[in-house]
Amino acid sequence: MKAKGKVIFFGEHAVVYGYTALSLPINLSTNVNIKKNDNLVIELKNLNKKLGFEEAKKDKDFRYVIKAIELLKVKEPFFLSVSSELPVSCGLGSSASVVVATIRALSKFFNLNLPKKEIAKLSHRVEREVQGKASITDTYTISYERALKIRNNEFSFIDEFEKTVREEKLYIAYVEEREMKTADLIKVVSEKEEKEEIFKEIEEITREALSSDVERIKELMLENHKLLDKLGVSTKGLNRVVRLAKKFGCGAKLTGAGGGGCVIILGDLNEEEKELIEKIVKSLYLA
Ligand code: MEV
Repeated sequence: MKAKGKVIFFGEHAVVYGYTALSLPINLSTNVNIKKNDNLVIELKNLNKKLGFEEAKKDKDFRYVIKAIELLKVKEPFFLSVSSELPVSCGLGSSASVVVATIRALSKFFNLNLPKKEIAKLSHRVEREVQGKASITDTYTISYERALKIRNNEFSFIDEFEKTVREEKLYIAYVEEREMKTADLIKVVSEKEEKEEIFKEIEEITREALSSDVERIKELMLENHKLLDKLGVSTKGLNRVVRLAKKFGCGAKLTGAGGGGCVIILGDLNEEEKELIEKIVKSLYLA
């Protein structure tokens, strides 16, 4: 079973404190396959790791999958294999995608017929238990595969916003590996004295974006990025890519928890511009 990744367009970090975020599913996905087996074995293909359940419990890389299996209380053994197109730990929701794909695959294999709502709820629970503080943004966007507005851990669909954004090309620049985990970045923000004022500014931007045209959305992305930088979650590398994209007339901002990872770029890039960006990032995807 597959599950997509996600990008946050506006409002990351602020959303953890009950403010608004706007998110979109993206077409890079995780695949989880399950088949019958005499023992419970889990394989993480991208990491080249394959372990029995008891061993896997001791390995951090398996935490999300283990928690999902434990939560569903499934009894019979199986072989579960995870592979993903999503670069890990870079703000594209790779962990949430693994959790949702795992729960979907378990639901199918054991005929649990879990509805979307239940999959979203369980996935968020897994993320919270493994990671600590976490909004529903990643797990719900991926479970529903729709653009969402999240506020106070409640959500609504924002198809119109997605349509507006999709009038332009959307690129994901994977800039650099993240130095810190999401939980650590949330902690950095929690220690920022002026965080509430910054969140309020982000909230205004996010609300305006929801009813803006694509040109204004591009400007608002740049403003949101500046505020994320002020919160202390941007990096020199991310700022450099945002600056370059701005020079090319695009909207751009870091997406997700920050501390490295990815920048989303909204707008057209010609071949030369693409090459210049490619020179300073690990990879550039069309999302
Ligand atoms: C993670 O993709 C985005 C954060 O806002 C954390 C969360 O929403 O749980 C930093």
